[in-house]
Amino acid sequence: MNVVILAAGQGKRMRSDRPKVLHRLGGRPLLAHVLDTARELGAAKICVVYGHGGEAVREALDAADLVWVRQEPQLGTGHAVLQTLTFLDPGATTLVLYGDVPLIGGPTLSRLIEMAGSGLGVLTEDLDDPSGYGRIVRDDAGHVLRIVEERDASEEERALSEINTGFVVAPTSALMRWLPALGNDNAQGEYYLTDIVRLAILEGMPVATTQPDASWEVLGVNSKVHLAELERLHQYRNALLLMEQGVTLLDPDRLDVRGELDCGRDVTIDVNCVFEGRVALGDGVEVGAHCVLRNAVIGAGTRIAPFTHIEESATGPGCIIGPYARLRPGTKLGEDVHIGNFVEVKNSTVADRSKANHLAYVGDATVGRNVNVGAGTITCNYDGANKHRTVIEDDVFIGSDTQLVAPVTVGRGATLGAGTTLTEDAPPDKLTITRVKQTTVPGWKRPVKKKS
Ligand code: UD1
Ligand code: MG
Repeated sequence: MNVVILAAGQGKRMRSDRPKVLHRLGGRPLLAHVLDTARELGAAKICVVYGHGGEAVREALDAADLVWVRQEPQLGTGHAVLQTLTFLDPGATTLVLYGDVPLIGGPTLSRLIEMAGSGLGVLTEDLDDPSGYGRIVRDDAGHVLRIVEERDASEEERALSEINTGFVVAPTSALMRWLPALGNDNAQGEYYLTDIVRLAILEGMPVATTQPDASWEVLGVNSKVHLAELERLHQYRNALLLMEQGVTLLDPDRLDVRGELDCGRDVTIDVNCVFEGRVALGDGVEVGAHCVLRNAVIGAGTRIAPFTHIEESATGPGCIIGPYARLRPGTKLGEDVHIGNFVEVKNSTVADRSKANHLAYVGDATVGRNVNVGAGTITCNYDGANKHRTVIEDDVFIGSDTQLVAPVTVGRGATLGAGTTLTEDAPPDKLTITRVKQTTVPGWKRPVKKKS
């Protein structure tokens, strides 16, 4: 099968410098969703018709299976498909999709293709308010006669509620006969793709119709309002799929998946979480409210408390993270690790059963097992020019408010006293402390304010 995707329209109503089909739905360009669907249907060749400003579209989404066809000027949907004919396999059928109609479903299109067989297939819909759309005109026996655009329609035709969604499938060899023969003698002076229906009937070719599984599948994006509406529909669909897989969502209306979210059994997600890129949550993971996870792997049984940010990181099983924790790229946590409030970890590994529960920065560090990182501890990893590593071996206890000036190593089983500024390696199994010895100054008095 060939797939042609029309994406040449400027999208003026978006009021944006960005080409319409690059606006994002679920974190990905509108056109990327349509390309997914085309590939899911097993398209051998995908032609994308692009127009003004479309080079950016090509740069953003180019792939080996795509043929990019520039349409300039844009003289209508029939003219757009005409530009692609030389690139299509004449022995296969051609399905026409739209770059700004991103939610069209594979099952709906498969049915359209099946119903069309070796004839023409048109996806239609019955609308309470058909205004703006082309209407399907049928004879008394219910056979399709033609499609009439609203601006060319008679009063009687405008009253028809069955509309053309735009999605059509046709034998490519037939398109090769019909499209060069289209005229533009109509209200818009355009070459209408919809006129192929009349040409098919003239040849005695059967025209089959079917309707989409869900009416929102055929909604297009013409404005930021439409974009926001489709975003919610898309997210609700994500939420339904997750719930069908057994995920507990405290409110399916308050979930945003901008990429792929893979969940094990008995996962619970509280409200207003955002998942970006590829995120995998293991069995029994709980994600608290208002968390943002981007490209992350979370081990089974890990609990993520509210307002936690995790990016390009992996946690082992049974960890407790947050609230208000931040795992930055390159963080790897072992089993049963606790990362508490206002703790930032970056490019570091923290091994099993270690804890940093309050107000700490662990950057470019290798932390062993059973380590306790006291409140306010900071790895001073940056000397103003270069980054250096901190190594904290197993069973270390780091007192509160300690600075580890990297490169530095804390030996196995060592204890650092609170307030230590460590600039040299601390030996294993010993207490190291850099504070001055506490003294009480005899006879010292607080200064008093002088009278003026
Ligand atoms: C078209 C249909 C109409 C249908 C409606 C559904 C025609 C003549 N009419 O009308 O029956 O009810 O869609 O939404 O087909 N495009 C190009 N090049 C062009 C013109 C359009 O690539 O020269 C692309 C646009 O970017 C857009 C799509 O084709 O994605 C549809 O074009 P648009 O002008 O919006 O079609 P309608 O007039 O709404
Ligand atoms: Mg138009």
